[in-house]
Amino acid sequence: MTAVPAGTVPARGVTGTKPMCDYCDCRDLAPIRALSDDHDRIGSLMARLRGHLASREDAGAAAVLAELQGALASHLAREEAGILPELARRTGFTDYLDQLAAEHASARAGLIALDPAEPGWEARVPAMLDELVEHINLEEYDLFPASRMIIDDAGWARVAAAYGNVGGGDGDRSGSRDAPGARAAEASGRRATG
Ligand SMILES: [Fe+2]
Ligand SMILES: [Fe+2]
Repeated sequence: MTAVPAGTVPARGVTGTKPMCDYCDCRDLAPIRALSDDHDRIGSLMARLRGHLASREDAGAAAVLAELQGALASHLAREEAGILPELARRTGFTDYLDQLAAEHASARAGLIALDPAEPGWEARVPAMLDELVEHINLEEYDLFPASRMIIDDAGWARVAAAYGNVGGGDGDRSGSRDAPGARAAEASGRRATG
């Protein structure tokens, strides 16, 4: 997996090995906190989806999948409108940003495009969720800390403005049963199962 360019990020590139990013102050920045809150919500939905599938509750699984698809689509749009293009204004991140873009494309072609009307859709979900966990962990432990160090105040203002233009997960949260740290539960479950 491509790393952030050497010297630009603390040595915490530990994708998939830590439950959540509480080791630096990047969540103190509102634009990062908003994305990280999205990750919490997405993690909660992933855990619920795994639970429904494990219980063979197909209708419940399909309903949660739809909620997850909406939350994820909004979240990807926010990242692609704000933090990612802001990093692209700087040199040295081309490969890293290309990797993130490819992972977003994979999520759109896979999880977001998944149709519960198709026979056997349930069997495809676990690998897709595992892939998404890896992507979220990369952002939490590489992208966000690096961005905290690299993007200046003017850049964060541009990111925040872009979020406002795109909207995002906040508008999708009515009726949510999410709780802070839900992503940690999902990540922990991911580690426990492989
Ligand atoms: Fe992303
Ligand atoms: Fe993300």
